[in-house]
Amino acid sequence: MINLEVSTSLEEISKIPFWNYEEEILKSETAGDSNMNVVLRITTNQRSVILKQSKTYVNKYPQIPAPLSRIEVEHAFYQHVQKHPVLKNFSPKVLAYRSDDHLLMTEDLGKGKDFSDLYRGESTMESATISKLVDYMNALHELEIKDFPDNREMKLLNHEHIFNFPFSLENGFDLDSVQIGLQELSLKYKSNTALKRKIDELGRKYLSQGETLLHGDFYPGSWLKSDSGIKIIDPEFGFLGDPEFDLGVLFAHLNLSLQPSSLKAEFLHSYNQPISPELLDQYQGVEILRRLIGIAQLPVRMTLDQKEKLMDQAVNLILG
Ligand SMILES: Nc1ncnc2c1ncn2[C@@H]1O[C@H](COP(=O)(O)OP(=O)(O)OP(=O)(O)O)[C@@H](O)[C@H]1O
Ligand SMILES: [Mg+2]
Repeated sequence: MINLEVSTSLEEISKIPFWNYEEEILKSETAGDSNMNVVLRITTNQRSVILKQSKTYVNKYPQIPAPLSRIEVEHAFYQHVQKHPVLKNFSPKVLAYRSDDHLLMTEDLGKGKDFSDLYRGESTMESATISKLVDYMNALHELEIKDFPDNREMKLLNHEHIFNFPFSLENGFDLDSVQIGLQELSLKYKSNTALKRKIDELGRKYLSQGETLLHGDFYPGSWLKSDSGIKIIDPEFGFLGDPEFDLGVLFAHLNLSLQPSSLKAEFLHSYNQPISPELLDQYQGVEILRRLIGIAQLPVRMTLDQKEKLMDQAVNLILG
């Protein structure tokens, strides 16, 4: 069993039974920003590939346990999308996989950046980008998949951080460390019992099994700019669920990056799966709230007033 680290020697890496005849490992480096897993870019005399290994913990915070099986989910997801003529162009090819080592090797899509710059709120997303995202969502959500890992443990982890922790009065996370005044502002939402009841209900819906294959984490950090267009990576939160969840996350991040609301209309105009607008609103609302008062903070640039306005809108989306 190989335990991959950034510091793993080239010699150790060369022992992984993934390499071609006469392939030499020349370089190993981190592939990009990541919290959960070990993700390395490996350069050989023949090619460049990405190795991703899941651990029993969150790689950046080893005291936090995390399900090992997330790499199995990622692998299953990529296997499904690879069979689809549209989706395969959005994702890296799977090159090798060893379930016992929790190790996945995929094509290197290049050193492109993700879309996190959007949170600076300085640029409007291009129509062409929205159009690509809707192509991807349409193709993904119309797949007919019967067997997919239930991804129960990852869903429970996500459930905690979307539907529970952010709204808990005594979660120990001092939001003033993010922005002075945010802690007090958060009490307005944490003490809204009608809101919390609705969010509990929504959380149970999130945990239930659906019929649509979701990416599960469809936000700018999962979209990569590559030479051959936008790519969608990191499907480790994938599961069969409500398509409204993927859309709600996307829409929340359009709000969080201060995008014009016309982009949502543009998206919905071309999205062709049946959805419940109320459920979409609710998932969108809870994602906005959890990103502003939960632990998974983003590099947003908003004043406290802007955050309050957006969170009030989120409450309205949830309570209708
Ligand atoms: N196939 C790929 N081609 C090029 N770069 C990649 C590829 N896969 C991952 N990367 C780079 O490595 C980074 C981390 O990858 P990924 O998001 O899959 O890891 P993660 O551990 O799941 O991260 P997170 O903690 O954000 O969930 C990406 O943001 C990207 O920069
Ligand atoms: Mg990830």
